[in-house]
Amino acid sequence: MGVALEDDTAVERRIVAPGKAVEQRPRRRIVGGDRRQNVRHALPLYSAAIESGAFPADAERLKRVFAAQDGLLFVSPEYNGSVSPLLKNAIDWASRPTGDEGLVALVAYRGKAAAIMSASVSPFGGLRGLIHLRQILSTVQALVIPEQVLIPNAHAAFDESGALKDALPASLVDMTAMRLAKVAAALAS
Ligand SMILES: Cc1cc2nc3c(=O)[nH]c(=O)nc-3n(C[C@H](O)[C@H](O)[C@H](O)COP(=O)(O)O)c2cc1C
Repeated sequence: MGVALEDDTAVERRIVAPGKAVEQRPRRRIVGGDRRQNVRHALPLYSAAIESGAFPADAERLKRVFAAQDGLLFVSPEYNGSVSPLLKNAIDWASRPTGDEGLVALVAYRGKAAAIMSASVSPFGGLRGLIHLRQILSTVQALVIPEQVLIPNAHAAFDESGALKDALPASLVDMTAMRLAKVAAALAS
């Protein structure tokens, strides 16, 4: 379980898999899947023209990765008080029907638990972006758990290994990840 956005920013280099920071190499791609399935996806900017031509293979793959999970963990920076365009684009592609699916099948999200986390150099930790992200994920029918993690002053929050320096935010990451796992398992049963 666990789907993460990876980008070449300080925030996104600290991708949080449940309870654990993983890879830190700069990229501008989407990482989908769990630690055993670390697949990168290159997604075009969504357009109906592209979609009606040939649904991009990477978008379909990302959607299938989402659909195969019981729970989804989104970790993102904040852009102008909202989500990054990279993340919104990925969410949008994975929301689209393919094959025989109905318009609002939303197989990538419906009935799945989701959790959200952000980090920001600001003292607010990306709170405004998370408010939007929660709303977007609810719109596509994911069940976003109430727990969330904000990491303020992100430029000083991580040590050289990419781990959070302070115990409190680190414990919140673990607690939120565990809660996500619990809700995801309950929903899947
Ligand atoms: C267009 C744009 C808008 C941004 N808006 C915000 C914002 O509203 N709040 C915030 O905390 N950071 C904002 N940022 C900063 C990004 O979150 C930051 O650039 C990103 O996390 C990369 O961090 P780094 O420069 O330390 O690698 C913005 C960055 C860009 C490019």
